[in-house]
Amino acid sequence: MRVNTSLLHGYPVLDTQTGAASIPKYQTSTFAQKKIGSKQDYSYTRFGNPTVHALEEAFAKLEKADYALAYASGMAAISNVLMLLEGGDHLLLPKEVYGGTCQFANHILPRYDIEVSCIDMSDINEIKAHLKPNTKMIYLETPSNPLLKITDIAAVVALAKQHQILTVADNTFMTALYQNPLALGVDIVVESVTKFINGHSDVVAGVAATNDKEIYQQLLLYQKNFGAVLGVEEAWLVLRGMKTMGLRMEKSIDNATQIAAFLQTCPNVKRVYYPTLPNHPNAAIQKKQATNGGAVLSFEVSNQAVLEAVIDKLQIPILAVSLGGVESILSHPATMSHACLSQEERQKQGVTNNLLRLSCGIEDLEDLLADLKQALGC
Ligand SMILES: Cc1ncc(COP(=O)(O)O)c(C=O)c1O
Repeated sequence: MRVNTSLLHGYPVLDTQTGAASIPKYQTSTFAQKKIGSKQDYSYTRFGNPTVHALEEAFAKLEKADYALAYASGMAAISNVLMLLEGGDHLLLPKEVYGGTCQFANHILPRYDIEVSCIDMSDINEIKAHLKPNTKMIYLETPSNPLLKITDIAAVVALAKQHQILTVADNTFMTALYQNPLALGVDIVVESVTKFINGHSDVVAGVAATNDKEIYQQLLLYQKNFGAVLGVEEAWLVLRGMKTMGLRMEKSIDNATQIAAFLQTCPNVKRVYYPTLPNHPNAAIQKKQATNGGAVLSFEVSNQAVLEAVIDKLQIPILAVSLGGVESILSHPATMSHACLSQEERQKQGVTNNLLRLSCGIEDLEDLLADLKQALGC
């Protein structure tokens, strides 16, 4: 089955009780038991719910994984996975990792005696240099946010396997449709479902997927006990949103590719960051491990006046945090995703005040280009 067929027919999509074409919302916290001690599939929604399970089957299919768990948010999935570490362990994390992951790792994990090193994951030598005897997990996020740096997934996996280190990849930007870290040997994939998988900017959700039964069982225990489960209503909305994920992403990626090329020609744009542009330092790695550059790009405008004009004049994209919606979303990393860093730290990473990130939606390309042209004065 190809992608769009599989998103509609590749997992149980009908209600087994009634044949309903949409899995119903089993909006219940508890399930009546036939007799004391009866063995039933469902007893309490925090332990399992048919709507949420239908979504987890869909996630497993999407991720080409043996096991998948649905979480209350991307951060719920990520924090549960990071809690697989134990006191005395060491974690390698990308310097540019998503802000919430950075905060969890640097402010919460040390309380449990877990050491964290934040490094440049696009440089395999830097990873090697930071390995310690107690390194137990390497966490990847590629492309990175907001500068779209690329990590060579297969190279990191090979290194990690030599040292029996667990690998985790946040695949939110590409999704399993265009980049499959599990197939490249990564142990656990996490994603913010809030973004492209749901795609309609109306749900917060997360997923973790793995082919390892032991990891799955441990995650299940953590999920149940941290109570990081996805709500029934949200699970139903994601089941619906996911059906059009292939079509949505195809259009968004096409828009991003063309907009990135256009921005490169604009005199008021100093630099464009997009993983498949020929001048991207790791375009070859992106092409090796993913089928395209994704739907998110960043660009640095030439000065503060241009930045203000863009924010003021752009009509179509909404100015907001987040990405992956059907509508284009423009973000200002310095005051949004990277506001928790000092100006100096942002400068070091290349997150300047004149940097903008655009998550391309499914609007008509001509309208997006016309809007950008008038706002940028190009
Ligand atoms: C790459 C990435 N990972 C994880 C998250 C966290 O996801 P959520 O907001 O669903 O908790 C985000 C949110 O922006 C993200 O961009």
